[in-house]
Amino acid sequence: MERLRSSRENQVIRDRFAETQLSVGNFVYPYFVVNGSSIRHAITGFDGVFHFSIDRLCDDIAETCELGITAILLFGVVESNEKDMLGSAAYRDDALIARAVTAVKNRFPQLTVMTDVCLCGYTDHGHCGVVRDGIIINDETLPHLSRMAVTHARAGADVVAPSAMMDGQVQAIRNALMVAGQNETKIMGYSAKYASSFYGPFRTAASSAPAFGDRRTYQMDYRNGAEAIAEVRADIAERADIVMVKPAHAYLDVIQRIRSAYPQQTIAAYHVSGEYMLLKNAAKNGLCDERAAFMEVSTAIKRAGTDIIISYWAKEYARMLREAV
Ligand code: PBG
Repeated sequence: MERLRSSRENQVIRDRFAETQLSVGNFVYPYFVVNGSSIRHAITGFDGVFHFSIDRLCDDIAETCELGITAILLFGVVESNEKDMLGSAAYRDDALIARAVTAVKNRFPQLTVMTDVCLCGYTDHGHCGVVRDGIIINDETLPHLSRMAVTHARAGADVVAPSAMMDGQVQAIRNALMVAGQNETKIMGYSAKYASSFYGPFRTAASSAPAFGDRRTYQMDYRNGAEAIAEVRADIAERADIVMVKPAHAYLDVIQRIRSAYPQQTIAAYHVSGEYMLLKNAAKNGLCDERAAFMEVSTAIKRAGTDIIISYWAKEYARMLREAV
């Protein structure tokens, strides 16, 4: 009996003083928002992830907040008849995400609301920027991204997250926010965003797969690690508040290198859709215990040096903590 009790106490001590402590405050939960009302559609092949209209989004966020999650990231998904060459549905004043942000902030003023700033969900060709003769035009894309960010900031977004991987996007958005008087809005740069095969479920969810070619001209080559430091350095110089590594699970070394180079910097990592479904499917097939596997990977992402983990598993993590009490 005596031995049993002391081993339980030892476990408490180990849990309390383990080097890496994951907490619900580390997580950001992503949402996919659509036009319409009363919509909550499960996305095929993307377990536990839904398309929400703004009304149902707010209902779900009530649960997310109740679970203790303090930040969300919003992605807009529009019908193909709303898409055009320049992705104008992304930055109209009454844009879907601007309306969503206003509704969410009205109901949940304490919640940190982040928005994705990229054209790929809104262009008819599915690329992240302006395309001419099959080529992405970096500098012509910047004003559109800036306008999109300002639209979100005016609607009340706390953090805008440019993910288009255009050079100079953080600087352009920072300047545009200043001109618009939105000086409080933070910028989270998708600084080290790799061309990855782990974005599959997301591209289905966001209907943002490129109609031709791929994203390798503007996303990073996974063979390069040092380049991530250069991308991060550039984003910090352009005054990003948060830098991000994406994906996360296959890039722990990149996270660690950025942490060593920038000990004070707020670093986020995105445990992306394909990485999430990999674990979900492994667990479904009896290859691992789902909760144990997500705990191990999420903890590793934090141990590598991140402050913020963007994860489709965030709500399940919070639920697991609730049950443990
Ligand atoms: C848009 C964007 C993508 C993701 C986040 N923002 C897709 C892409 O780059 O093709 C992927 C996130 C995920 O897979 O969960 N540029």
